[in-house]
This record gives sequence, C-alpha cells and structure tokens, in this order.
Amino acid sequence: MRENILIIGNGGREYAMGLVLKDDKRVDRLYFAPGNGGTHALGVNIPTTKHTDILESIQKHNITLVIIGPEAPLSEGLSDFLTAHNVRVFGPSLAASRLESSKAYMKDLVSQAGIKTAKYMQSNDVNALSEFIHTLTPPIVVKADGLCAGKGVIIAQSHSEAIAHTKEMLSGEAFGDAGMRVVIEEFLDGYELSVFAISDGKDFIMLPACQDHKRLLSGDNGPNTGGMGAYTPTPLCDKSLLEKIKKDIIAPTLDIMRKQGSPFVGVLFGGIMVCQRDNELTPYLLEFNVRFGDPECEVLMPLLETPLLDIVTHAIDGKIAELECKMIEKYAVAVVASSKDYPYKSSPAVPIAVKDFDKNLGHIVYAGVSKAESGEILASGGRVLLAVGLAESLEKARDNAYEIMKHISFKGMHFRDDIAFRALGR
Ligand code: AMP
Ligand code: GLY
Repeated sequence: MRENILIIGNGGREYAMGLVLKDDKRVDRLYFAPGNGGTHALGVNIPTTKHTDILESIQKHNITLVIIGPEAPLSEGLSDFLTAHNVRVFGPSLAASRLESSKAYMKDLVSQAGIKTAKYMQSNDVNALSEFIHTLTPPIVVKADGLCAGKGVIIAQSHSEAIAHTKEMLSGEAFGDAGMRVVIEEFLDGYELSVFAISDGKDFIMLPACQDHKRLLSGDNGPNTGGMGAYTPTPLCDKSLLEKIKKDIIAPTLDIMRKQGSPFVGVLFGGIMVCQRDNELTPYLLEFNVRFGDPECEVLMPLLETPLLDIVTHAIDGKIAELECKMIEKYAVAVVASSKDYPYKSSPAVPIAVKDFDKNLGHIVYAGVSKAESGEILASGGRVLLAVGLAESLEKARDNAYEIMKHISFKGMHFRDDIAFRALGR
C-alpha cells in the first residue's frame, strides 16, 4: 500500500521534508497542515492547526502517516492525541517533549544523568536567582523556562543586567507564562553544533552534525534569530567528537527518558557548545529540541541516501536498530533570505522574482511565503526562503547556494554572506 502522508507545520523544514518524500515511489499523496505558499506545489495544504480538524482530515483523506515538524504542536500534545486515535505519528509524546518545552526540567534531568552542561540554577524566586547570579562572572545567561520561539535567551553583560532581565521575565512582562520560571547559566565559550538523533524509544541513529548561524548579520553580529543558514557535514565535528556527543550526551538522555517511563520516539536535537578543556574538545549540552532544526533540516534532507520514509517508519515501529543510515557524499549549504524587518516585526507581503538557474547547483526551499489568488508566490513571513547549494566540496556548495541567491529577489530581502565561515575561514 502506498502512503498518504501529512506533514504538520508551515516552514522551510516541512517543505524540505516534503521535497524528499514527494520523490519516494512509495508515497501516493502529500498533505501539509497548514503548509505554506510553496508546499502547494508539493501536495495539498489543509489550512488548520486545530487537533480535531487535523484528525478529521486524516480520516477524510485516508492519511496513513503523520510527521510533526515544529515544537508547538508537540508541546500541545498532538502526538498523544493522534496516537490515541490509532494514527501512525512521528513525533515525541507530550511527556518526552518537555525536554524542549521546559528548560528547567531538561537541566535538572541532564544534571541528574551526569551530562556535561552549563552550571545553572532554575527557580521562580528572584532572591535565590540573584544570589546565584552574583556567584557567576559575566557574561551571564538568562533563560525563560518555556517556549519563546527562540527569543527566550539573553546573554547579560553584567550582574545588574542579568537581574533586571530575570525580574522582567518573572513578572510575566517579557514572555508571559513561559518566563514565570527562569534558568540562570554560566556562559560557555566555544563553538556550536547541532546534532540529530532519531530514536525509536530504545535505540537510535545519528545524522551528521550541522552548524547553524543564529545571528541576523554576517560575522555573527546582530540579534538572535531562528537561524540564518546552516551547512553539513562540518569539519568542526570529526568522528571522535560525534562519538563523544553520542556516548556522553545522547545515549544517557534517551536512557533516562526510557527508564522514567517517557521513552523518546522522534528526533532528538542537541544544541551543543564545544569547549576547549584540558587541551581537549569537550561537548557541553546547551539545549535539547524535540524535532528537526530549521534550517538544519533543509541541509540534511537532500543528503539522505537512506530515505526519510524508512527512517520515520523504523522509528515508529521500534526498529531503528535495523536501519543503516547512509548519507550521500556531498555537502549542503542553506542560506536563508529573510524579510526586511525580521526578527523585529512582520513586513507587508511582496512578490518574489525567481529567474531560471542551473538545477545542478541545488534548489530553493520555501518557508515564509503565501500564494496570491493570481498564483504568484509572495514573501509574507520572517524567514522567506532558502537557497540550498549542493556539491562535492563545502566551498563549492556554498558558492552554489550564493549563485542560486543571485537569481532571487524581493523587496527588503536580506541574507548573510558568510554561511559556513567557521569551517571555511571566511
Ligand atoms: P538555547 O535556546 O538554549 O540554545 O539558546 C540560544 C542560544 O543562546 C544558543 O544557541 C547559544 O548561542 C546561546 N546560549 C545559550 N546558552 C548558553 C550558554 N550557557 N553559554 C553561552 N551561550 C549560550
Ligand atoms: N535552528 C535552530 C532551531 O531550529 O531551533
């Protein structure tokens, strides 16, 4: 039987998954809920985020498999809801999703498991937190406990700034309920990696490490964003470092999740800071996410040799250990083009012009776009689209991504010109 697959979400991550599933002969029809103006071209958009409406559509369209892309529906329990209605779903349970939806829970759990992570205190008491802040040397990291769409982390340059942000979060002014509990952390100096494990609750496989670029502007300047570009594989994570991350961070976390009765089935995404300690590269866990990264997914998907469908179904069926995950021996670089006022405010929708380009360079992934009645694709969201370059070398893959970008334009378009600079030295 061929699969009818529903992908939940509306970003570039979901488009990228759709792009590889569309080419899988075992897939009949693809649906997106709610999808974006670009996913129209890959399948059918179902314009809803309501759980009961999603279930109704699954029944109506004979959907055989659901893949949940973003964190929000996971933290609202969509995976449990669909499982309870006998739907095959790829995405962790509400209990397992707490690894992302509560930083306080995650920090307590990984500390108990003896995993290396920044020294911290979590509390809802301003006096206790202030006392802890004074034991640290600035910069000091202040984090809202709950989900804040990537905006809940502040790097304070002084004790007083850290205390001011802590108070603002605890008052509910900064992030509402998500900030009613605060995590204070020591600042870790190093370089970041994004690592991805696919787990069936018991066993897991690892994908190659990626590097994201969180800051808005080239040279790692400007405010934090959801991510302005990514590349994989990265020479900054050799086999032995990935093995360390696997053994010291991923395996013990999945183990403790299983032992405490909330086995993790899905994508466990570790945000890692690699620090130099005693002349050795030592990975520290910054955060867990319970889904693919965006834009990391956009560089991983085109390099999968083992089909995404096999990865997903083996995880759901508890058979991930039977799967050998192979990657195509190439590099992928994704450069995000964002709208004028991202990440501060939304910009009015504007038309996107795309000129023909050589498809051997790579492809475009659509994210914050809508479709006008005329059929025209409009830039309507913060991160609008990505140029994904593919090649046998990292340098060429990046050149290809920027070559594709030359063929795209919309009013107010912004992108970084230095994606992969840590690996390429510029
Ligand atoms: P998080 O959402 O926890 O990954 O934090 C967002 C970003 O803040 C990370 O990608 C890092 O760049 C930075 N960050 C978070 N925690 C720390 C830390 N303890 N030390 C240094 N940078 C941090
Ligand atoms: N790119 C980081 C994230 O998806 O959270």
